[in-house]
Amino acid sequence: MHITDDIKYIGVNDHEIDLFEGQYIVPNGMAYNSYLILDEKTAVMDSVDGNFTQEWLDKIAKELDGRQLDYLVVQHMEPDHSASIMDFTKAYPEAKIVSSSKAFAMMKNFFGTDFSEKQVVVNEGSQLSLGKHQLNFITAPMVHWPEVIMTYDSTDKVLFSADAFGKFGALDVEEDWACEARRYYIGIVGKYGSQVQAVLRKAAKLDIEKICALHGPVLTENLGYYLNLYNIWSSYQPEEEGVVIAYTSVYGNTKKAVMQLAEKLEANGCKVVVNDLARCDWAEAVEDAFRYSKLVLATTTYNADIFPFMRQFIDHLTERNYSDRTVAFIENGTWAPVATKIMKGMFEKSKNLAFAENTVKIMSALNDESTAQLMALAEELSTGKAEEAVVEEEGGKRRFECSVCGYIYEGEELPEDFVCPICQLGAEVFEEIE
Ligand code: FEO
Repeated sequence: MHITDDIKYIGVNDHEIDLFEGQYIVPNGMAYNSYLILDEKTAVMDSVDGNFTQEWLDKIAKELDGRQLDYLVVQHMEPDHSASIMDFTKAYPEAKIVSSSKAFAMMKNFFGTDFSEKQVVVNEGSQLSLGKHQLNFITAPMVHWPEVIMTYDSTDKVLFSADAFGKFGALDVEEDWACEARRYYIGIVGKYGSQVQAVLRKAAKLDIEKICALHGPVLTENLGYYLNLYNIWSSYQPEEEGVVIAYTSVYGNTKKAVMQLAEKLEANGCKVVVNDLARCDWAEAVEDAFRYSKLVLATTTYNADIFPFMRQFIDHLTERNYSDRTVAFIENGTWAPVATKIMKGMFEKSKNLAFAENTVKIMSALNDESTAQLMALAEELSTGKAEEAVVEEEGGKRRFECSVCGYIYEGEELPEDFVCPICQLGAEVFEEIE
């Protein structure tokens, strides 16, 4: 695959993987992308997963066709992209390694060496000329690790975007981009919305014709579509109006209530998605919760707590900064239901959530009273009258953004000795934002 006249695709498809990053199912496999730039100097952009080192080295050799290799650019040190570096240095001992200082520190941890004799350390604004091609480096901390850099080839107007704009799925399987890119983004990068926003602001200043991510297809047309989705996802705004019902049910009574609610909501014209948290792909359920504007959580009281799948699900949401949506609760319990109280409490630190006015309490099985509560909740969610009960009042707080990585500090004042927890720079690089 030729990206441009001088940029060749040398990545690999993985159909053997069972769980990506040890937890995400990938029914259509995974692609580890790598690219070769052929100019007066030659450069490889990132390596691949360690199970595919030889296939990748063979592709490099074929495209080089006997030429020397000058640079390996390491944008990201997660092993799905870095595990072949050591073998690369044996195959191409003369090549320099171009990366951030944080990445070289990680190389020492992974490989026992930071390749000091081969290092070309780059930072925000650094440039590397390959001849005709100019590589411009952009720091992208926490998209998805702190050492990440992106690379803009200003000659061919190509952005090498590291993990950003990636998706699950091998390249030899055709599927919708947004579905698996959303599940990938929310699951893997979702916690770092402000850092993604910072990179999007940098990207807005570039003339980009192609985006070459480390996973998924090369994006060549209608780039505004992808950039717009990334802007929505990273700003935590719902992508669509709709109600996601996530539930657990031990003996079927909670499920019966959920199905009645879904039926009523659909009859009222709502888009509804139902996920059984004990059986569905948890990452798909998390993706749905972030995609739509309203969420109903239905579970039982269990060991004076909530059912384990629900606790894990809410943890997945809150650790990814779930916010700006409406949440409603259905609880079931036979003698002392406490699930609604516990679920609400788990969102204590979440921002800009509205809790529905109507809650549903089922004592073992639906009866007239709980059915009436269920129908009242359906009406409230259908008509958008959910109570605007913001969980955390933010009055008096100011926001200061790190101009390097996008980290946001909130408080009445930014302390003079404040150090950015992401990029370790001081208060002088912070600017107050709305
Ligand atoms: Fe594709 Fe963060 O590694």
